[in-house]
Amino acid sequence: YTTDRIRNFSIIAHIDHGKSTLADRLLELTGTIDKNATNKQVLDKLKVERDRGITVKAQTASMFYEYRGQRYLLNLIDTPGHVDFSYEVSRSLAACQGTILLVDSSQGIQAQTVANFYLAFGENLAILPILNKIDLPGADPDKVANQIEKAFEIPTSDVLGISAKSNINVDQVLPRVIDQVPPPQGDIRAPFKALLFDSWYDSYVGVVCLLRIVDGQVRRGDTIVSHHSGVKYEVMEVGIMYPEQSPTVTLQAGQVGYIVCNMKTISEAHVGDTFYHLKQRVDPLPGFVPAKSMVFSGIFPVDAGEFARLDESIKKLTLNDSSVSVQKETSNALGQGWRLGFLGTLHMDVFRQRLEEEYDTQVIITQPTVPYRIVFADGHTKTIRTPAEFPDHTEVSARKVVDLQEPTVSATIIFPQEYLGAILELCSQHRCEQQEHSFLDETRVLMRCVFPMAEIVNDFYEKLKSKSSGYASFDYEEAGYMSSSLVKMNVLVNSRPVDALAAIVHRSQVDRIGRDLAQRLKKVIKRQLFEVAIQVSAAGRVVARETVSAARKDVTAKCYGGDVTRKMKLLQKQKQGKKRMKMVGNVELPQEAFLSVIKR
Ligand code: GTP
Repeated sequence: YTTDRIRNFSIIAHIDHGKSTLADRLLELTGTIDKNATNKQVLDKLKVERDRGITVKAQTASMFYEYRGQRYLLNLIDTPGHVDFSYEVSRSLAACQGTILLVDSSQGIQAQTVANFYLAFGENLAILPILNKIDLPGADPDKVANQIEKAFEIPTSDVLGISAKSNINVDQVLPRVIDQVPPPQGDIRAPFKALLFDSWYDSYVGVVCLLRIVDGQVRRGDTIVSHHSGVKYEVMEVGIMYPEQSPTVTLQAGQVGYIVCNMKTISEAHVGDTFYHLKQRVDPLPGFVPAKSMVFSGIFPVDAGEFARLDESIKKLTLNDSSVSVQKETSNALGQGWRLGFLGTLHMDVFRQRLEEEYDTQVIITQPTVPYRIVFADGHTKTIRTPAEFPDHTEVSARKVVDLQEPTVSATIIFPQEYLGAILELCSQHRCEQQEHSFLDETRVLMRCVFPMAEIVNDFYEKLKSKSSGYASFDYEEAGYMSSSLVKMNVLVNSRPVDALAAIVHRSQVDRIGRDLAQRLKKVIKRQLFEVAIQVSAAGRVVARETVSAARKDVTAKCYGGDVTRKMKLLQKQKQGKKRMKMVGNVELPQEAFLSVIKR
């Protein structure tokens, strides 16, 4: 395939607007997958993705398509929709020349439509606006086409209405892709040059690298070199994703495909790296800004004896997800564990679910912390990822620390105008720094505002949804650091400080969060045989205290003399309940205790 017969494109959309359904339809239409196949949503390969119906990792599939008597090779690069994974979106876009901007015609433009549009626009991609779900009774394609014109300056006449589910107008999609997406540039006679834009670990063949071939070609037996490390690799297999790995003889300029070489671990597959042929060194391609972890959490085995096994599982799981950062951590309450960094809380949750399901391990996760910055009097700065590293208040008052800073985000929120008042109120409760809003059309508001990141990583999104009856959508990007009046909140259980319960909060919130935390802990800590005192302190004073009174009678007494199977069942239940318990001193703390700060 010469480059003029190749098109590399992606589909970007807000979550649930139908990307995966459209991708399935296009793969069926080109005969890449069977129409009657039961495993639909072929691009969503991970189990969590199927469970949750969301795309986490971008996948790629090649298709062949006849158009005006010519055969084309089309490479579809799927992208995730959720904010936490916008890093994957930009990575995928770097391998494309065009993208379908898919908008649900019953919902209209949503926050990620806007965010994804700007990512694609910034990459200079051809953008094909398509309205999906025109089969729905609530669809209003004309109105949404007008929104698109207003927001993105794309004329309404360029917009195509389809239904991916009911197969309406889907046959017009690929002709548009061929006509409007420019073919990739590249010279097959030039020295080999390729961009590594994704990789994963396959238990049969080892590390698989997804490449965009910029110039030249690569085949089995070639020796290629990584620009990043200078390491040489022998190519063992090349091929395309059709939609599974299918070997081919070569991969040529303009194509997107995979290679398998003698790479031992995924850490060698550096996303953004340039490969070239041995003795034909080329200039490196502009890489990517590495994914930055913005949410850090402690992970600990429920049973300390499981440490080694959990260590192994975390290593395996991070093989396929280089955006998770891993460090060892020791807690006085929870023992040996890890501090893991994630792109966001959904990312964290997906990771925990995969760890528990794929590796059958039970873990305790501590409340997420954003990275704070401490500026010392001598001028040096330190970024901290756990409350334990926070300077104590005597250090702050002795002016050894001159500034405390927290990360901020710039957010986009889109919602129907009747919720404006409620959403403004919610924003101010979350320390919104600046706010401006405009109208997308007569009924929808587009709001941009700056928040401290700590305010939105927990349950902000859920609150936003409930304040707007589910209609608001939300997306954000990092917006640098700002000075902030921060304090560390400590929790003592029966006079013992529990480091895993400590949190960094804004001074103005100390009393509210402190009281709330003490009350929540009181609710989740089961009665013990003795009284349990809970104290929350910050900046050298106690801000809240609660007491869990002692249990009066032996709760298992009623089992004795009773039916044996019933007793066994009760014991079994008790054992299961114990699974996520940790002893701190002589007090048993459940998993919920460690997440108490989050749900405030
Ligand atoms: P993420 O990968 O999570 O971002 O979602 P997605 O954009 O891939 O959405 P998906 O394809 O999973 O579709 C979301 C829901 O919309 C599913 O229940 C689909 O069946 C439904 N859907 C998709 N296309 C259409 C359509 O044309 N009409 C109707 N009525 N429903 C559709």
